[in-house]
Amino acid sequence: MTFHSMWAQLLPIGRSRDSGGYRRFAWSGADADCRAWFEEQAETRGLAYEVDRNGNQWAWLGDPAAGDAVVTGSHLDSVPDGGAFDGPLGVVSSFAAYDELRARGVEFAKPFAIVNFGDEEGARFGLACVGSRLTSGQLTREQAHRLTDADGVTLPRAMEAAGYDPDAIGADPERLGRIGAFVELHVEQGRALDLSGDPVGVAGAIWPHGRWRFDFRGEANHAGTTRLGDRHDPMLSYAETVLAARREAERAGAVATFGKIAVEPGGVNAIPSRVRGWLDSRAADQERLDTVVGGIEKAARAHADSQGVELDVVRESFTPVVEFDHALRDELARILGKDTDLTVPVLGTGAGHDAGILAASIPTAMLFVRNPTGVSHSPAERAAEDDCLAGVSALADVLEGLVGR
Ligand code: GLV
Ligand code: MN
Ligand code: MN
Repeated sequence: MTFHSMWAQLLPIGRSRDSGGYRRFAWSGADADCRAWFEEQAETRGLAYEVDRNGNQWAWLGDPAAGDAVVTGSHLDSVPDGGAFDGPLGVVSSFAAYDELRARGVEFAKPFAIVNFGDEEGARFGLACVGSRLTSGQLTREQAHRLTDADGVTLPRAMEAAGYDPDAIGADPERLGRIGAFVELHVEQGRALDLSGDPVGVAGAIWPHGRWRFDFRGEANHAGTTRLGDRHDPMLSYAETVLAARREAERAGAVATFGKIAVEPGGVNAIPSRVRGWLDSRAADQERLDTVVGGIEKAARAHADSQGVELDVVRESFTPVVEFDHALRDELARILGKDTDLTVPVLGTGAGHDAGILAASIPTAMLFVRNPTGVSHSPAERAAEDDCLAGVSALADVLEGLVGR
């Protein structure tokens, strides 16, 4: 099965006809279809298929219990109206790279696996990288059981409805202990490779990042009869906070985004009683991130106080800066640069990944494939097929170096 044909199989799954974007949310029907595809890929190749206690899917060659396994993979879920590449490119490339290793006649001196981590984007339950966070113990079963989607469905009920046991979830140190190296290939979510003219790069670090919920509570009232001076309008405080986020991020050379909002009661002719906005902010270092989020919160409180609006700020998730394993990163750069005098670009990124979560427990590395516009988390996300194939070949080189060591 070629890269092209695997790609074509996944392409229609969970795609919205209206937007052309993907809606592959954790434990939904589209997610189940993607997962069925993964299982079929494993079985077609005679790889041992397994779902772990947290719902992550694995396709194994060799005995996992032997330890020092080489693992590659990514995720198949998407953000709301996401692109086709964020996640699936890594999973499809993993199967294609495995096929390439077989065609090269590579001997696997170590166990090898391809993984699809569940719920990487956190689109449904608000927390990213749930599958890898649970596995690495960075999210407990109790915390995960409290996650709830916009329709009030809890994560355990959603898992159960999809046929998984939510009581089994939790840290899986034994599984992690068997992995010697994890490599995730991903579409680049910026334009560094386009600007440098390289099809493939290696990750250096992931910026610290997090999500904060701002709850502004005011007073519901009539939009036509309430004098402006008598209002306690949480929307105004929210709007000022969005502007403050832009200001603070610009000042610190960071990013800050309000991409999701919930307004109650949500009537056109009523002043809202509550506005909830979710802030996503990321910076090159912790100090800058603290400054940005602190500045936004301060501005939000000052405005809310002046309007008689109450404000709660809750940090819903956080991932500290990730420096990828230097030895593994250098090994990747060496393998990719071999027989040439080219140096492989090493990139920092503001995007979160399962590889970043696992980096706290095991040596991990990432490869990026050029994205000509840098657009991601949008239906316009792209990578040229030639570059994807260059990514597959780079991943195969890296895996060959790792499994043969
Ligand atoms: C995941 O893609 C993230 O960076 O939020
Ligand atoms: Mn993403
Ligand atoms: Mn991703």
